Amino acid sequence: MIFAANWKMNLDNLSAVKLAEEYNSGNLAGKHQVIVMASHIALADVRRKLRPEIEVYAQDVSKFSGLGNFTGETSAQQLHAIGVSGCLLGHMERRTHVKELDSDLNLKIKNALNEGLKVMLSVGETSQNLTPAEQKELITSQLATDLADVTPEMLIDKLAIAFESVATISSFGNQQAGAALPVADIFKKIAIIKDWLKEKYAGVSIPVIYGGSVAPDNIAQFVTEDGVGFDGFLVGKKSLDVLEFKKLLEAV
Ligand code: PGA
Repeated sequence: MIFAANWKMNLDNLSAVKLAEEYNSGNLAGKHQVIVMASHIALADVRRKLRPEIEVYAQDVSKFSGLGNFTGETSAQQLHAIGVSGCLLGHMERRTHVKELDSDLNLKIKNALNEGLKVMLSVGETSQNLTPAEQKELITSQLATDLADVTPEMLIDKLAIAFESVATISSFGNQQAGAALPVADIFKKIAIIKDWLKEKYAGVSIPVIYGGSVAPDNIAQFVTEDGVGFDGFLVGKKSLDVLEFKKLLEAV
């Protein structure tokens, strides 16, 4: 399974390097694939510090490609050059706080893939006030726009989808997975995403993972449901404490 540690904007460079050291001594790499998602400022040092089997992703990438006069931007080429292997795109915090547009996400995804970076695309509910039909429409339209013109050949072994909802991510004030969004609903969303992917990218393996207040005492509920498969987890808060993060890896 994939365990992506989304450190968000929680650490300065020294703290990020210290946490990377703790990840190394925590012996995390085993049967699971561990990805660390660090702030741009810490990526180079975290990449140097972490064991090579732990992948390092950025939390965003520019919609502009190559090198050039784009003040404040960081391109896929620049990230690739420091050993970053992928990027998280479309996280709910960026969709809501930064008002990230699907049309820009489409450019970012294509830039990342063209540069050889992997992409973890986050899709899901940016509002808690949607009917099930509206939720489905939102998720499928995010997928359709974000992945427009992205061919199956471009994304072999390069794409993963993370389902998230503002109803369950801890930073939106939710302390418990399943409190505002029942687990059965989460499984329905994963099924919507898998169906969509099967239609557009038949035969290509694209992991679909879940993110939102995943914790050692609730992770089991996401893996016991019959017939619906999760391929991993996107973990925010609990990834900042290596012991808690390790408990997640050991629980499944
Ligand atoms: P959380 O964050 O685990 O703190 O809810 C998940 C995420 O936002 O990626």
